[in-house]
Amino acid sequence: MYVCLCRGITDTQIRQAVQSGKDDFRQLKQALEVGSQCGKCVRMAQEIIRSELDQP
Ligand code: FES
Repeated sequence: MYVCLCRGITDTQIRQAVQSGKDDFRQLKQALEVGSQCGKCVRMAQEIIRSELDQP
């Protein structure tokens, strides 16, 4: 599923980035440029980070 349409970034890419240590939004944005244009995806990206970090 696309999270960031401006940059064409999917939830899978975000989850993979979180697993490789980009576990806050600032690092994620640096790595993927998610949220770097319109910003509409920021909240959803943060929720994905949170849900990924909540996994046992
Ligand atoms: Fe992510 Fe626009 S949808 S910056």
